[in-house]
Amino acid sequence: MTKNRKTVCVQGLGFVGFAMSLAVASAKKNNKPLYDVVGIDLENEIGKKRIKDINSGKMPFKTLDDNLSNTFEEVHKEGNLIASSSTDLFSKADVIIVDINFDVNLIGEFPEVDFAPLKNAINAIGTNMKPNTLVIIETTVPPGTTSEILYPYLLSLLKKRFPVLRKVNLAHSYERVMPGKNYFKSITDFWRVYAGIDSESAKKCKNFLETIINTDKFPMRELNSTTASETAKVLENSYRASNIAFINEWGLFAESVGINLFEVLEAIRIRPTHSNIRQPGLGVGGYCLTKDPLMGIVSCNQIFKINPTDFEVSKKSVLINSQMPKNTLDLIQKNVSSTKDKSVLILGLTYREDVQDTRYSPSLKLIEYLRKNFKKISAHDPMLRKIDHNEFLFEKDLPDPNDFDVIVLAVSHSQYKEINFASWLERFKGLFIDSNNVLSLNQISNLKKLNLKLRIIGRGDI
Ligand SMILES: NC(=O)c1ccc[n+]([C@@H]2O[C@H](COP(=O)([O-])OP(=O)(O)OC[C@H]3O[C@@H](n4cnc5c(N)ncnc54)[C@H](O)[C@@H]3O)[C@@H](O)[C@H]2O)c1
Repeated sequence: MTKNRKTVCVQGLGFVGFAMSLAVASAKKNNKPLYDVVGIDLENEIGKKRIKDINSGKMPFKTLDDNLSNTFEEVHKEGNLIASSSTDLFSKADVIIVDINFDVNLIGEFPEVDFAPLKNAINAIGTNMKPNTLVIIETTVPPGTTSEILYPYLLSLLKKRFPVLRKVNLAHSYERVMPGKNYFKSITDFWRVYAGIDSESAKKCKNFLETIINTDKFPMRELNSTTASETAKVLENSYRASNIAFINEWGLFAESVGINLFEVLEAIRIRPTHSNIRQPGLGVGGYCLTKDPLMGIVSCNQIFKINPTDFEVSKKSVLINSQMPKNTLDLIQKNVSSTKDKSVLILGLTYREDVQDTRYSPSLKLIEYLRKNFKKISAHDPMLRKIDHNEFLFEKDLPDPNDFDVIVLAVSHSQYKEINFASWLERFKGLFIDSNNVLSLNQISNLKKLNLKLRIIGRGDI
């Protein structure tokens, strides 16, 4: 750490905050780092482990993105990123980026959020920061949170220490980070949306992000208010979630009438207006699509206290998507008799391919359903070192397929795509299900020649 560099604090060292810390720490001018970065997490078990890993130069998550691990190595060598749980370090910051988690709970059918953890995080910032520091909220929050809750709260905290202060610099800019093979570039080489609580905050936010993001190629877009920027984030995820929920019903239709929905979708995608139509799969997991579509309702109920819509489509999408693993369960039950003495192997536990994140994983949901009816459930995932679960046995290495009656290929990890399934399953006589369009046409045609029962979600022609 050097005295003449600006200091940036990143609050929350999770999947987003850690990668963002690296993006900031690796930003350079004339080949020299622009910032000293301090990552701050909680003093709990997860937080302490992330802090320890980062400070000792060990990646806190397994990643297939060499760009991210190489950048971490360089930054660690340079020494301009440290991690800590000391909130008084916020006093050193010129810029503070908030990347903590923000949960939405479903109370029965209705989403509700507790703003207390977010306010606690802002409290740690507001009781320590300098008055002219820029605070950027990157955490996904219900529209209205920054202007209606966080701004007045932060200002009130600062006014206790600086009574004449009239305003604070606060902005919202959301992440579109995609943990996976392009993890790092999904921050530095991707379009950004931002907005300030006032024009000065917006300008400071723009100037800062321009030093981190490759804005020549990926220009940023300023929106008129932080509520608009928060809305953009939750709307883009709601759009994707509803697109998936919508395709789910056509997948079920295709399976029943004997057609291949993937072939249908390919024919449709040729239309530029329909190019991003989704496809059937095991289900929707992860921390974003499972909660973000519910944030509109929360905004109406808990922030603005209005009722212009019930957000039926967004709400229903979350519900439909959460029940998608049931389609694979139904397919298994249709094809296997007397399940009580049968064993199942699930290949893939993370919520999507090539990540280490199992939050709201559809595979775990499937296991929850299966364990009620099957004798034994085992699972394997090349991205995970271990997972403590009492509902199934975690297999470190790919086990012998012949020990199982049912095998579900649940996640399209790169490693799984490289497996020659026809050779691995040569003597397998049970049910093999591809729930996530992992198999190539060639693999499918080779598997069809074997003595096993092959089923594919979204394909009624097999
Ligand atoms: N994971 C993604 O792919 C992704 C993509 C875009 C946006 N987001 C959004 O980014 C935000 C962060 O997501 P994530 O996946 O990194 O979550 P995460 O759970 O992996 O990380 C959050 C981190 O914040 C820490 N934290 C919580 N409260 C804190 C506090 N008061 N002070 C310091 N640290 C605190 C937690 O200990 C944790 O390490 C969420 O709002 C999420 O919706 C996530």
